Amino acid sequence: MPKAPARPSADPERSARVTGSRPEIDPRVFRRVMSRFATGVTVITTRDGDGVRGMTANAFMSGSLEPPLLVVSIAKRAHMHALMLEAERFGVNILAETHEEVSNHFAGRPNPGLHVAFEERHGAPVLRDACARMAAEMVAQHECGDHTIFIGHILHMDFDDRMPLLYHAGCYRALDREGRIDHAVSILEFW
Ligand SMILES: Cc1cc2nc3c(=O)[nH]c(=O)nc-3n(C[C@H](O)[C@H](O)[C@H](O)COP(=O)(O)O)c2cc1C
Repeated sequence: MPKAPARPSADPERSARVTGSRPEIDPRVFRRVMSRFATGVTVITTRDGDGVRGMTANAFMSGSLEPPLLVVSIAKRAHMHALMLEAERFGVNILAETHEEVSNHFAGRPNPGLHVAFEERHGAPVLRDACARMAAEMVAQHECGDHTIFIGHILHMDFDDRMPLLYHAGCYRALDREGRIDHAVSILEFW
């Protein structure tokens, strides 16, 4: 096993000052600690008038097998938030390793030259080229501080065998053919 490197000086325990009965958590430390949780990258999609809006999100998880539920968390300040509060159906699209540009495009760095095609599944828009796609019916919404947690009942699922785009410690990453991390592309803080 490789030895763990020394912890950086922004030690969460030292930066948590006690105010009242709860320690105050430094937002920079919050982001750095949360970014240690390696995830895939999704684009959440829903109808926006006659068009479709997408937003890149890694706060996605499976919620329940029976019934089949999925969970996403969206910042209240995101444009997507107001649409999701009203949405009856939405899509969750898991990006493939080649989709860094697509991720940036839906994370507030729109690329006018990028053509993104959508399809519809059970009334929800999904990306044509995602490596896994889910269409869901909105069944619950829960306050979570400056985010809202949205729960969808899954109506449609499909996938292919492409390798996923990963996100860890502020970088996009990809797996090599043996399943090890292959390369890392640093991205700016998006949220
Ligand atoms: C890899 C990655 C993961 C993200 N995950 C989330 C997330 O789970 N929830 C969220 O609200 N924003 C997330 N964001 C940030 C939004 O994609 C970003 O704030 C977007 O610009 C919001 O859309 P808007 O600018 O149209 O409001 C993520 C961004 C990136 C690059």
